[in-house]
Amino acid sequence: MSWEKAWVASPGDLSARKLEVPDFDPRDLRNALGRFATGVCLVTTQGVDGKREGLTASSFSSVSLQPPIVLWSLRRGAGSLATFIAAEHFCINVLHAEQIDISRHFCRPQLDKFEEVAEAFGTGIGGLPTLKGALATFECERVSHQVVGDHVVFYGLVRRYTYSDASPLAFHAGNYACLQSA
Ligand SMILES: Cc1cc2nc3c(=O)[nH]c(=O)nc-3n(C[C@H](O)[C@H](O)[C@H](O)COP(=O)(O)O)c2cc1C
Repeated sequence: MSWEKAWVASPGDLSARKLEVPDFDPRDLRNALGRFATGVCLVTTQGVDGKREGLTASSFSSVSLQPPIVLWSLRRGAGSLATFIAAEHFCINVLHAEQIDISRHFCRPQLDKFEEVAEAFGTGIGGLPTLKGALATFECERVSHQVVGDHVVFYGLVRRYTYSDASPLAFHAGNYACLQSA
């Protein structure tokens, strides 16, 4: 499906709009967007067949405090897409500065990303894999998902959360970074 059709096919207000899509070089646009520094998360879930899935993601954002809603987005070509769409829950595991290795592990496609690192995870609501010692965890019930262009945006209601005061892992211009106080 073309980019434009995929956008027009998405639900909600977007479907009514006729958009003239700019012809940007995707690589260059990505470079520009990468100037926005973010934190780094592992988003994890357990599929209906019990198989654990997860990936490194920086698209996490808070949306609403009351009710507590967060979002993140997944590339439509991702191997884990079908599992995340079918699952009722997902967990956002925010990484601290010492967790670069697990971030690298979860951004590489693999049949079973959890096999080698099973010990690093506990079990949360509905069997969710929760990363032990994460900077923060948000166990979410998926309330909605929406196709937007080449990604699917997932919205979750936070059911349970944890956090600590460790330093965050950051990502900027294609590189991992650690934050310094301004
Ligand atoms: C720092 C960082 C942030 C990323 N953020 C996202 C993201 O928000 N959404 C996404 O779909 N992929 C993101 N990726 C890429 C995925 O981690 C990568 O494509 C992964 O292999 C997808 O997993 P899967 O193929 O098992 O589904 C990111 C990668 C890195 C290194």
